[in-house]
Amino acid sequence: MFNSYEELSAYSAELVAGVVRQKEDAVLGLATGSSPMGLYEELIKLYDDGNLDFSKVKSINLDEYVGLDGTHNQSYRYFMDLNLFNHINIDKNNTHVPDGVAEDLQKGAEEYDELIDSMGGIDVQILGIGPNGHIGFNEPAEQLNLNTHVADLTQETIKANARFFASESDVPTQAVTMGMGPIMKAKKVILIASGENKAWAVKSLTDDVITTLIPATLLKLHSDVTVLLDRGAASQLDEK
Ligand code: GLP
Repeated sequence: MFNSYEELSAYSAELVAGVVRQKEDAVLGLATGSSPMGLYEELIKLYDDGNLDFSKVKSINLDEYVGLDGTHNQSYRYFMDLNLFNHINIDKNNTHVPDGVAEDLQKGAEEYDELIDSMGGIDVQILGIGPNGHIGFNEPAEQLNLNTHVADLTQETIKANARFFASESDVPTQAVTMGMGPIMKAKKVILIASGENKAWAVKSLTDDVITTLIPATLLKLHSDVTVLLDRGAASQLDEK
């Protein structure tokens, strides 16, 4: 647990930098949203200071809204370019975000899984967490998908993400998201949670239960997960 989001972000960047320094062509699984913003700022600083080289790095993002192309300012491709890729020496051809406007979304999803396989899987997967425990857009459900798929967003998620759009009705109702498979197969997972609205989901990571109704709880089965919290996100955890 960190006293501030800034400290958390600096630490997360050192973890990611460690992976890239060990393997110059590392595959980074990346996430969007407010949680990893600080991480990306810190990675840019490391690059600017000459402490990190992304020239051989590859990236694969978790998800994209259906119906938004990369020029839409709320698309996740736009987010990644704006907040990270435009500021570092990564080759954009090595950066991948699902296509939310593919004519055949299902085919696009299958190709995305083939792409992940062809990259040899993910070396480090960055995750945020939804207030309802979703990861990527793997929403709470009786069953979860292993593979990339088109997901219907829950009302709660639409509400949570409405802050980025002019109105709630502008939030897409579907997304293309990586399934649980590549996330669980990632060699290392770093989950970042900041703010009190994540406290309930974070608490669910500490009990004895695994449930598809809180998808992030499946991470308890992964052998290398680092959960980074600020005070707000940790506020429902018992003091130990
Ligand atoms: C979004 C994204 C997730 C993200 C989560 C939390 O809907 N699909 O990948 O982790 O919700 O977002 P934030 O970090 O902005 O709270």
